[in-house]
Amino acid sequence: MLSKIVQDALNEQIRIEAESSQVYLAMACWAEIQPGIDNVTAFFYQHSDEEREHMLKLIHFVNERGGFATVPALPQPPLTFPSIKHAFQALLKHEIFVSESINNCVDIALQEKDYATHNFLQWYVAEQIEEEALARTMNDKLELIGDDKGGLYLFDKDILTISVGHEKK
Ligand code: FEO
Repeated sequence: MLSKIVQDALNEQIRIEAESSQVYLAMACWAEIQPGIDNVTAFFYQHSDEEREHMLKLIHFVNERGGFATVPALPQPPLTFPSIKHAFQALLKHEIFVSESINNCVDIALQEKDYATHNFLQWYVAEQIEEEALARTMNDKLELIGDDKGGLYLFDKDILTISVGHEKK
């Protein structure tokens, strides 16, 4: 059985994962109307789907442990970006925020001596290491490319190989 404080923390994490899914869906939607970045677009759509899976995993965990998961209300995410680089900078910033929030959940689980929740959250801890590393790799590549259109063309090709290893995990 979950304590109220653990349930509240997990419900907040459900909200954050749902918000992440929404934020990346908006990035995908914006990318889709930019010329020539079909793979970047596919990456954002895929990432949005993954965040929904993260949310669902938490929902099932809360409900299966005798709690009640809260399906959250969500604000409208940013809809447009000055450039692809800006979108990926926003993605990295958002993932760092998600990691902090997961760490907070882990802290609370330990304080509450809820070792089952602590164990469950280790999957998210590992996932966040991957997601931050992936976002950093993409930001580093975009930094190198600068305004070079040929570089951006290659980045769009590259993103498939960069992200496939991550998603196959
Ligand atoms: Fe579920 Fe990208 O954090």
